[in-house]
Amino acid sequence: MNKFSWTIAVGLLGAAVAAHAAEEVKVGLMLPATGTYARLGTAITNGFKLYVDENGGMLGGASVSYATVDDESDPAKATENANKLVKRDGVDVLVGTVHSGVAMAMAKVARGSKTLMIVPNAGADELTGPLCAPNIFRTSFTNWQPSYAMGPVLLKKGIKRVVTLTWKYSAGLQAIEGFKESFTAGGGEIVQELTLPFPNTEFQPYLTEIATLKPDAVFVFFAGGGAVKLAKDYAAAGLKDSIPLYGSGFLTDGTLAAMGGAGEGLLTTLHYADGLDNPKDKAFRASYEKAYGAAPDVYAVQGYDAAQLLAAGLAAVKGKVEDREGMIKAMAAARIDSPRGSFAMSPAHNPVQDIYLREARGDINPVVAVAAAALADPARGCRMK
Ligand code: PHB
Repeated sequence: MNKFSWTIAVGLLGAAVAAHAAEEVKVGLMLPATGTYARLGTAITNGFKLYVDENGGMLGGASVSYATVDDESDPAKATENANKLVKRDGVDVLVGTVHSGVAMAMAKVARGSKTLMIVPNAGADELTGPLCAPNIFRTSFTNWQPSYAMGPVLLKKGIKRVVTLTWKYSAGLQAIEGFKESFTAGGGEIVQELTLPFPNTEFQPYLTEIATLKPDAVFVFFAGGGAVKLAKDYAAAGLKDSIPLYGSGFLTDGTLAAMGGAGEGLLTTLHYADGLDNPKDKAFRASYEKAYGAAPDVYAVQGYDAAQLLAAGLAAVKGKVEDREGMIKAMAAARIDSPRGSFAMSPAHNPVQDIYLREARGDINPVVAVAAAALADPARGCRMK
C-alpha cells in the first residue's frame, strides 16, 4: 500500500469505529445501599444491570456507564444527592429510588433540570399524580395500587372490622388509603389506624392495642427489614392465629427467609408473584439465578423493567440520548414484556398491571388468583404538560 492509500484506509477505519461507538448513555443510580431498604436497592441494581449485561453492555444502541449514590432512604439528603448525579456527574437519566419521600425530592430535581427519570420502586402517588411530567416514568406501582386490590379480597372472606398499621410516611399512609377506599366502599369498617415513625420497629405497644381492639383482621404496609421484624413480632405475640394479618406484598417479598417461618400462610397483594408461568419470567429467573446465585423478587423485576423501558426509548432514537422528545414518545408508548406479565404505561406514565393475590409458602409467594386485572392508578391531580 502506498502512503496515500494507507492514510485513506486509516481514515475510513477511524470513521467506522467512531460511528459504532459514538452513542453513550450515562445512568445515575440513586438507591439505598444502607438502612432498612438496603436489600431492596441491591435487588433493583442487580435487575437493571442484568438486562444491560444480557445486551452486551448496551441499551437501544448506546453503551451504558453508571454513576451511583447511596441515598440512605433519607429524604433530608435527597435533593443534594440527586443534584450530585445531575450536575457533578452529568447523568442522562436518573434511576431511583425505593423510598417515596426521597423519590419526590428527586422528581423535583428531574423536573427542574428536565432530566429523564425512571422510578424503579417508590410508590408515591404524587409521582404519577400532581408531580407527573413528560420526563418522569415509573416501572413499579403507585402506593394505591396493590393495597386497593386487597379490599374486595377481605370483604369476600366476610371480614368487616380492620385495624391498619404502618410507618407514618407517604408510602405507608397512601397504601392504607388505597386499601381503605375499596374496603369501606364495599361496607368494611376501619376500627383504628395505627402508625409509627419510619423506620422504627418497636411494635409491642401497637400489638398490645390490636389484641385489645380484637378486629377481624389487620392490614399493614411494611417492607424490607421492618417487614421481617413485624411478622416475627406478630407471631411471637400470639396474634397470628387469632387475628389474621394481611398486607401489600412488600411484607413478604424478599423477606420470607429472614422471617424464619413467621410469614407462613400470609396472604398479600402485589404486581408480582411466584409461579406466574410465563416464558419471560422463566427466562428472567434463570438468568438472574445464574448471575447472582439467588432468586429474584419484585424489586429485581422493577429494576430489570426500568432498563427495558430505557432501552425502548433509546432504540427509537438510535441510541441518541440527546433526542429527549423522541425517547419520551417511545417510552410512553412502550409495551414492556415484563416477568410480571406484559404491561403498558398509563397516560400518567405508571404501569397498568394485574395485581396478584399470593399466599406465602416456605420462602416464596405463589400466585393464588388475580385480585385486580389491568389495574390503572386513578392518577388524581396529574396534568401532563
Ligand atoms: C416507598 O417508600 O414508596 C416504598 C418502599 C418500600 C416498598 C414499597 C414502597 O417495598
